[in-house]
Amino acid sequence: MINAEARPLHIVLVSAEAYPWLKVGGLGDVVGALGRYLTHAGHRVTLFIPYLRSDTHEAPAIATRTLPQPGRPDTSLNVTIHRILDDPLFKVYGFRIPGWIDRPPLYSPDRIPDDFDRFTLFSLAVLTFGPLYANHVDILHLHDWHTCPLIVFLRSLKNKIHPWQHRPTVLTIHNLAYQGTVPLERINRFFIKENAIPSALIHRGHLNLLKAGIVHATCVTTVSPTYAREIQTPEKGEGLDDVLRNRTSPPIGILNGIDTDVWNPATDPHLPANYLAHRLDGKGVCRQFLFQRFRLNLTTELPLVGVIARLTYQKGIDLIAESLPHLLQNNRIRLIVLGTGEPSLEQTLRDMAAAHPNRMAFHAAYDEALAHQIEAGADIFLMPSRFEPCGLNQMYSLRYGTVPCVADTGGLVDTVPDFRHDPDGGTGIRFRTDSAHHLLTNLNELAGFYRYPDLWHTLMRRGMGQDFSWKTTIHRYIDLYSKLRSEVT
Ligand code: GLC
Repeated sequence: MINAEARPLHIVLVSAEAYPWLKVGGLGDVVGALGRYLTHAGHRVTLFIPYLRSDTHEAPAIATRTLPQPGRPDTSLNVTIHRILDDPLFKVYGFRIPGWIDRPPLYSPDRIPDDFDRFTLFSLAVLTFGPLYANHVDILHLHDWHTCPLIVFLRSLKNKIHPWQHRPTVLTIHNLAYQGTVPLERINRFFIKENAIPSALIHRGHLNLLKAGIVHATCVTTVSPTYAREIQTPEKGEGLDDVLRNRTSPPIGILNGIDTDVWNPATDPHLPANYLAHRLDGKGVCRQFLFQRFRLNLTTELPLVGVIARLTYQKGIDLIAESLPHLLQNNRIRLIVLGTGEPSLEQTLRDMAAAHPNRMAFHAAYDEALAHQIEAGADIFLMPSRFEPCGLNQMYSLRYGTVPCVADTGGLVDTVPDFRHDPDGGTGIRFRTDSAHHLLTNLNELAGFYRYPDLWHTLMRRGMGQDFSWKTTIHRYIDLYSKLRSEVT
């Protein structure tokens, strides 16, 4: 709760995703939780997200407004604004832009350059119509490259008066690898001539939305302290390390929280049985459920390894395909992989599962319930990410008593101490992902520890006792917002 003398804040959140309304990955989880926990702490939140037509969520349109159509100044677009949530402290509005932000998928399969236009339009719609629904704003908190045009527009409104113009902006980078980069001439579609492009938007001869956001935001944050350091180095800076280093205020790392109401093994409605750290029998039921559902050979000797990921290079799926067949053949592990992504990686995993029937299952889907069941039923959770800004699944795993086996990078460093180096505090193991060999030897070693129930139970219970909840983390954002507000008033 806020203390008596502190005036509640009004925070505007803008994001491409927010759970439970619109989610593709961790971005959705984080923005949705941020909104909810800020209001639990007594602050006001107005959240703007894209509105896609769906069968599950129908929200009425409360207004229709027009915007010029990109590339066609003679025609205009009808933007409909939908009221998605109308709680006293928490308002959520969705913007639907027919033909652009319209129906799933949220991200175009070929991503850029279509998404550049789509999210520039979304940002423009929020900039133009958002103030009608959010006044007396203290902070604008924007997420990832999709919302950066807003910062650029606000900064380029030289003589005009815009209600949000002098509000502090916080830009949170959830993944530096996605920047919203397209050739310079694409700007013509937004009625700006190439020679009039603001210099902040140009990076290495291209338009780069994230770069402009980094240059102009009052404050840049990212989702873990280690990632905040890594992105300022040439190795992990994705070509923007110098831009990040050159800011007067360096990027701040605030570790994401997890929603401990949604992710709670004691109450989780998706599980065949619930459990607690001191009563773990339900976890055994969850384990057995997975073995049956995926027709794996049941064994109590070997650990069941779970993987839930977008199937991309970032997540090290190719490393799994290279090293895990060895462990499956030698009967060291059982494996379940859940996720969708690059077609070639999906095919590789499909082939791998076909080659190891009853030892490995691959489920190519986005399935929220199954994700909960794997977190609960697996013994080990594997994340061989090449980089990981924060990662949420390792925190869910810890809470579900599933021992994480993770890459030595980003938020994984901040959340999973290695028990081989820290026997009294470690909760999992970490390894380098510069070769598949490291993954193989480390996972093999952890599989060996599974045979020692006392050690394993200690690890499980220790993990379950960690506190990664938003209830604790949210104050870091509130402190930051309060500080920024006091600097402008
Ligand atoms: C992105 C990152 C992931 C992070 C999530 C939420 O998906 O890849 O590491 O946990 O955003 O911030």
